[in-house]
Formats: sequence, C-alpha cells, structure tokens
Amino acid sequence: MRQFNRVPCIVFVWLAISLALLPSIARPLTRDDQQRLDELARRILSHKDQVAGYPVNQETDLDGFYAWYTRLGLQRSVMNNVGDPRKTSPYSLNTHAFENEVIDDFAELYGFQPGKYWGFVTASGTDGNSHGIYFGRKALASKAQQAPILYVSEEAHYSIKKLADVQNLELRLIKALEMGQMDIRDFERQLDPERPALVVVAMGTTFKGAIDDQAAIRRVLATRHRGPHYIHLDAALFGGFLPYASGDGWQLVHQQIQRFDSIAVSGHKFFGFDEPMGIFITTQDTFRRLNPFHVPYLNDAVPTISCSRSAISPLKFWWKLHATPLSALRQQANEMLDGAETLLARLRETGIRAWKNPYSNTVFFERPDAGVMRDYDLAPEEDPAFGKVAHFVVMPHVDAVLAPFVADMKRWKARTSSPASTTLSPRATPRTAR
Ligand SMILES: Cc1ncc(COP(=O)(O)O)c(C=O)c1O
Repeated sequence: MRQFNRVPCIVFVWLAISLALLPSIARPLTRDDQQRLDELARRILSHKDQVAGYPVNQETDLDGFYAWYTRLGLQRSVMNNVGDPRKTSPYSLNTHAFENEVIDDFAELYGFQPGKYWGFVTASGTDGNSHGIYFGRKALASKAQQAPILYVSEEAHYSIKKLADVQNLELRLIKALEMGQMDIRDFERQLDPERPALVVVAMGTTFKGAIDDQAAIRRVLATRHRGPHYIHLDAALFGGFLPYASGDGWQLVHQQIQRFDSIAVSGHKFFGFDEPMGIFITTQDTFRRLNPFHVPYLNDAVPTISCSRSAISPLKFWWKLHATPLSALRQQANEMLDGAETLLARLRETGIRAWKNPYSNTVFFERPDAGVMRDYDLAPEEDPAFGKVAHFVVMPHVDAVLAPFVADMKRWKARTSSPASTTLSPRATPRTAR
C-alpha cells in the first residue's frame, strides 16, 4: 500500500521540479480553453479538403518541417529576417542565407538574368504587389519628374486598387473583356503618353483566371508612350504552377521573354504553405534606384516596406523546395490543369453554363444555391456579362471532391429546372456522405 502511494508523490515532485526548471511563464490551459482549441482544429481538419472556392493548396505536406523544427526546439528562439537578406545584419538570428537560396531558385525559374536581380520572401501576394508598386514608383521617380499613373484592369485583384490608394497614386482602371483580360483598346485610350506609366499585369485574374496580353501591353507602351514605364506582374496563383506545367505557359512568367520589371507570387497558393507568404523579385536596375533611407541601427539595409519579417516562412520555402522532387511539382501543376478541363467538360455535360480561360485552373459557372456554395466554400461574383456566378479553383487537394461536386451541381440544376422546384433548396449532399 505504501509502495502504491509513493507513485503519485514521485510524479508530483518530478512535475514540480520540471516546471521550476522550465524557463516558461505559461501555465496549463483551462479545460474550456483546451476544448475550444480542439474544436477549432477538428472543424478545420474535417472541412479543409472540401474548400474549392479560393486558390489555396491544402496538401501542405509540412510534417517533416515541423518535426525538425520542434525536435531541435527552434520555437524557443526569436528569429527575424529584418533587413536586406543580401547584407550582413547586426541581428544574427535570421535565416537570410536560406531566403537568398529560395530567391536564387525562383529567379532562375522566372528567367531573371543570373546575378541581376534582387528579391525576398514576402508576407503574402499582396505584400509582393505592394513592393512591386512601391519599387516601380521609386524607379520611375528616378527617371522622370512627373508622378506616374498606375494602370490595371478592372478585373485584377482588388489589392492593387487598395495599394494605389495607400501609395497615393493616380489610378486608371482599364476595362476588361468578357473573359477577364485587359481590354487593350481601352488601355490605349486611357494611356497618358507623357506621364510615367506603372502597369500592373494580371497573370491570372482572381475570379476568371484571365491572363493579360503582355505583348500587346508592351506594344502599346512602345508606340503610344514617350516617358519611362514600369511593368509589375501580379502572378499570385499562376506564377506558382505555370513554370512547372507542360506546354508553353512558362514563357508567360519568364522575365527575359516578357521584360517585366518585377513579379509577385503567393506561397500559400500553389506551393501549399500553412500560412500566407510569397516571393517578390525585381531587377538589379530597379533595386539600385530605390535610394533607401539610412538606418545605421540595422547596417543601413532595410529596402523592404516592413521592418520585421518572418524568418520561418523562408525556411519553410527552402525546406519544401529541397524536400519536393521537381517531378512532383510538375505532376501537381499538370493535374490541376487537367482537372480543370475535366471539371469544365463535366459541368457542361450536365447542362450547366461554365467557362474557363486558357492556362487556367479556375472554372466559373452559373451560381448554385446557398447549400452548394457553403459546402465547398465557393466565392460568389456578380458579372455584367455572365450574371450571378461562382468559381471552383482546381488545386491539388480537390481531386476527391470533383465528382461529388459535379453530382451536387447536377442535383441543383435538376431541382431548379424542374417545374415543381421551390426557391429555397435544402443543403446539398450531407458532408458526412462524402
Ligand atoms: C491575382 C491575385 N493577386 C493577388 C492576390 C492576393 O494574394 P494574397 O492573398 O497572397 O495576399 C490574390 C489572391 O487571391 C490573387 O488572386
């Protein structure tokens, strides 16, 4: 009996000593707190593979990264990539060396001239666009006295319009064609031949997956514009998969072919990271025109808009590039594009009006009822040409969802086309059935 009582006592003493030795001010969570966190995790994990309305890849595949990270206890340090990753920072707890290798890999992928680029791992696609517009403004200011005008298609991502506002730039919204590409004739009409031009090209519009015609934009600039211009490519989603896909799509994101000045790509879209991040790369010529403010405190080296930057996201990027065979990235890119073709064909076979742009993994179609919208986290849109629509973004994780989705759409269509259909329809197939 005495022996038996000693066990909890030993455990208690061991716990007390461990807690006293731990350099932690955290206390165990209450049962309620723990329960809330567990419910959140269960809800997200049970629904994640069904999310198809937003361009994120749920096949994150980061178990190996987190196993390494926690095995060595790196979560007990505060790393920070503040500063220019190409310069030595007085704050040595950074991952700049790995960040540079990630940028070197992508600079090669996007066809920048070797050694003639600069870039960093961003906080998101929007962060990359923000730097594209900022760097563009600075580069143009170094060449001309007048303030530039920012040109972007009305179907480009809303972040560009917001960033023009934040950076106090005159914005000219260019009309889009029905399928979402910038209307080149309207660009020509609206282009001021004298003022510097900052053009943001949509390399895959958010809703219809349309790609602006870069050759036509360059032609208009060459023939109708006299001052300096700067071209930034918003390739948030398409910049991830196009270089890996079969065919000639890689040429659309190749700097020496398209002559763009900078490019922004999201990391959490095609590459499947579990938090927002991205890539921004520009030419050395643009970079040297920045004229950054002097910051002796950080070795005179803060070209980025934000000061503190994640040191973990570059590590994740590096880890993924090293742990994923090139053949796997190619396979994912091709399967996404093939899946989008299949989805388009299946929807049309069932009598649903559906559309897709070339090189695109996004299929848009007449908007189903609220049940289907909710089940697949579909994004709604109101379009002047197509009416009420929704889209499905074919990412690597949606493979198993394609067939049930088409079946749900078919059921919805049958309900709405039958004379006895009611205006309010019940939820689509119960989620547990999938
Ligand atoms: C074309 C385009 N640009 C920019 C963004 C914004 O990227 P992020 O969400 O990484 O900030 C998106 C997001 O969907 C997008 O589709």
